[in-house]
Amino acid sequence: MGGIEVLEISLVVNGQIAAGYAEGRTLLVHFLRETLGLTGTHVGCDTSQCGCCVVHVDGCAVKSCTMLALEADGSDVVTIEGVAQPDGTLSPVQRAFVDHYALQCGFCTPGMVMSATALLKDNPKPTVEEIRVYLEGNLCRCTGYRNIVRAVLTASGQALGEFESEHT
Ligand code: FES
Ligand code: FES
Repeated sequence: MGGIEVLEISLVVNGQIAAGYAEGRTLLVHFLRETLGLTGTHVGCDTSQCGCCVVHVDGCAVKSCTMLALEADGSDVVTIEGVAQPDGTLSPVQRAFVDHYALQCGFCTPGMVMSATALLKDNPKPTVEEIRVYLEGNLCRCTGYRNIVRAVLTASGQALGEFESEHT
């Protein structure tokens, strides 16, 4: 009987070349967490529903539990650890999440921040509806989403006035 085959893969993660071994069945999220030690990317379900595992692969938001590590070979990956500046300055989305109390337990937050960051890259001034639709794949068990919408609006530089008058 042969052993389980493992293959070496190499990718760029948060601007650094990262290499490691993965089985054919290894999911990207497990490679990031267990091989590279990047535990900011969370696993919140086994049904691809929660969005806690969202990272950026070649500039696109991806649920990393839905992608094999081998498929990411050669890709450019950004995880939550790569979002802040090297000196620790939070990104505008991270700052807005803090300022608007858009997290409680924080378990969903890495995925929320990665998804919201991808949204604002593609659509710098989203409407409230567009924010809600884009974040449909990210579940939060704590906040009720209202402060998350506030945070994304703020990170996009939009005033909260209309949102506040409609949601008070
Ligand atoms: Fe829940 Fe990936 S861990 S969607
Ligand atoms: Fe707890 Fe979102 S802050 S799940």
